[in-house]
Amino acid sequence: MSRIAYVNGRYLPHKRASVHVEDRGFQFADAAYEVIAVRGSALIDEDLHLKRLHRSLGELRIAAPMGDASLKSVFREVLRRNAIVDGALYLQISRGQAPRDFPFPQGVAPTLVVTAQRKRGPLAKQVEEGVGVITLPDIRWRRPDIKSVSLLPNLLAKQQAKEAGAFEAWLVDRDGNVTEGTSSNAWIVTAAGEVVTRQADTSILNGITRLGLIGLLAREGLKLVERPFSVAEVKAAREAFLTSSNNFVLPVVSVDGAAIGNGYPGSVVRRLRQAYEGHVAAQGAAQ
Ligand SMILES: Cc1ncc(COP(=O)(O)O)c(C=O)c1O
Repeated sequence: MSRIAYVNGRYLPHKRASVHVEDRGFQFADAAYEVIAVRGSALIDEDLHLKRLHRSLGELRIAAPMGDASLKSVFREVLRRNAIVDGALYLQISRGQAPRDFPFPQGVAPTLVVTAQRKRGPLAKQVEEGVGVITLPDIRWRRPDIKSVSLLPNLLAKQQAKEAGAFEAWLVDRDGNVTEGTSSNAWIVTAAGEVVTRQADTSILNGITRLGLIGLLAREGLKLVERPFSVAEVKAAREAFLTSSNNFVLPVVSVDGAAIGNGYPGSVVRRLRQAYEGHVAAQGAAQ
C-alpha cells in the first residue's frame, strides 16, 4: 500500500509530496512540529499535543492553519488513508512560503504537512535490557521548550550517541546538570526512591509522555521531584529512564559506559512502563 501525505489541503502520494523551495520551514527552520503516538487507531493524548502545538505556534507567532476540529479531521484522514493502527503521526506547520528574507512575510498562509508511519518504537530487547546514554554539552538555543524544527544540535548529538554505540545523548548544561535527551526527557530514581526529572521551564521540552507519566506517579505511590540533577547523580542513581512518544518509558542502564544501579532495568521503571502502557491502552480501547 502506498503512503499518502497531506500538504496544504491535498492528500498526495508520499513520493510526490513536497513544499516549495522558499518555504520558510525549509529555508529557516521557521516551523513548529508534533509527533503523536498512535495505538489501537487512537492518537495518544491528542489534546495535550494540540495544546503544546498552540503554545509553540504562539511563541513563534505563526498562525494556526485551521481550527482544531479541522486539524483532527486531517489527522484521522491521514491515518485512514495510510491504514495506520499502531504508529506515529507527524505534523509540521511552517510560517509559509515567501521570498527569502528574515522578517515575517505579510499575508502568507502557513504551510501544513501531516504524515504517518507504522510503529517503530524501541525493540523488545531494549525494553527488557535497557539502553545506554552518553552525555554531551547542551549546545541548543535557549528556547528548547518550543517544539521547533530547528533540530540540528539534537541530531548531531544523536549521531554522536549512535557512533558511540549508545541509544541516546543526555544533554548537559553549563552547571553540569542534565537538561534532557536529544528527543526524550531524562529521569532518575534516587537511592531514597524519589523519581526526579528536570522542571519544565524554558530549558527543556515539556514532553507529553513526561506529563502523562507524572499523572500516574501518585497512583503508583511514588514521589515526584522536579529539579535539575547532575551527571554524578545519574551515575549514583538506583535507576534511570527516558520518556518520549516514540519510546514511552525506556530503561537507561548505563551512562558514558558506566552501569547505573546493577546495570539492569529496576523495579520502578518496569512498573512505570507498565502503568504508562495501561494509560495508552485505555485510549486505544476507547476508540
Ligand atoms: C528534545 C525533546 N525532549 C523531549 C521529547 C519528548 O516529548 P514527547 O513525550 O512529547 O514525545 C522530545 C520528543 O521528540 C524531544 O524532541
